[in-house]
Amino acid sequence: MKSFRLNLIPGDGIGVDVIREGCRVLKSLEARNGGIRFDFNELDWSCRYYLQHRRMMPEDGMQILADCDAILLGAVGFPGVPDHISLRELLLPIRVGFDQYVNLRPVRLLPGLVSPIKNEKIDFTVIRENSEGEYCGKGEIFNEGGAEETVVQNSVFTRKGTERIIRYAFEYAQRHGQNKVMSATKSNALNYSMVFWDKVFHRVAADYPDFEARQMHIDALAGFLIMHPDRLQVVVASNLFGDILTDLGSAMLGSIGISPSANINPERKYPSMFEPIHGSAPDIAGKGIADPVGTLWAIAMMLDHLGLKPEADLLMSAIESVLSEGSIRTPDIGGDSTTTEMTDAVIRSIMER
Ligand code: NAD
Ligand code: IPM
Ligand code: MN
Repeated sequence: MKSFRLNLIPGDGIGVDVIREGCRVLKSLEARNGGIRFDFNELDWSCRYYLQHRRMMPEDGMQILADCDAILLGAVGFPGVPDHISLRELLLPIRVGFDQYVNLRPVRLLPGLVSPIKNEKIDFTVIRENSEGEYCGKGEIFNEGGAEETVVQNSVFTRKGTERIIRYAFEYAQRHGQNKVMSATKSNALNYSMVFWDKVFHRVAADYPDFEARQMHIDALAGFLIMHPDRLQVVVASNLFGDILTDLGSAMLGSIGISPSANINPERKYPSMFEPIHGSAPDIAGKGIADPVGTLWAIAMMLDHLGLKPEADLLMSAIESVLSEGSIRTPDIGGDSTTTEMTDAVIRSIMER
């Protein structure tokens, strides 16, 4: 029996619904296989927790979290607690503290999904820097409230941080039999950070002479995603650029609720964390209609990471077959099914396979 300990942070809003459904799917994989077991340790860290304790997680939160094979997170943030507090005290410290410097975000039009754009050859991976850059959290306020009030938000790009993510992108492409890496830049305007990013990109690209290594300014690249997604294989981007490109990417699949995100510590010194890319969606929270696909896909990425490739493949083909069959789908992609009905259909498909 192979057993896996998972730390769960359902968080806020629809995060709670999608993690509940994700756990049911993991239990169905257990039942199907017989030789694997998932033990859940559910943590109530969230904006609700904050309103009680004035913090997003306990003081020893990171030690509690470290003790597991992987972390599964729903979404964090809800009206009532400022977003920069909830995210800066829970999600972002985990990514940085566990050195999950790779944020892997596939953008693939699964069978059965209908893209709002014409070119439906959409299958690329965004490799987002996840530990520094625009998200370093450093800055200053001068003359607060005064007429001369000035706010500075810094970005930090280190040689180590930049080089390792760009190299990861080339290695990832190579491992997947691909040879195109596109770098998202903005070195026309960002004269320190992105000029440096470009320099590192060219240096690393020189180690991969058989590759088509290109760069595009982020504004042009956003347009390119819509016009020519078929020409993309791997896109490497800074923390903020990767964030924005992947909501765009998910919208190209028909919904923000579809896409997964794997926060990876490649050295496996710390646990990695898996989550959908979407947030807590306060506008639909409590209605039971959140699309669970982003979370289920993230769970498939987690299974793969845990060495359970057959289960990851089984889950993906179950999701794809339900989407292709088409009668059960959530409202965001044009249906009228609930989160639970969608998950039930995926579970049925898993058990029938
Ligand atoms: P959001 O992703 O929560 O919602 C954007 C839109 O997409 C909304 O209309 C929402 O209803 C829809 N949507 C999102 N996920 C969906 C799903 N699974 N099924 C159907 N529709 C879905 O983004 P937002 O409104 O900018 O943020 C809301 C809160 O979530 C904020 O507090 C924000 O900081 C937080 N947030 C957290 C994470 C995270 O924890 N990883 C990610 C993004 C946003
Ligand atoms: C995401 C989210 C987070 C990010 C927010 C909530 C801080 O948008 O995971 O994409 O920007 O990384
Ligand atoms: Mn985002």
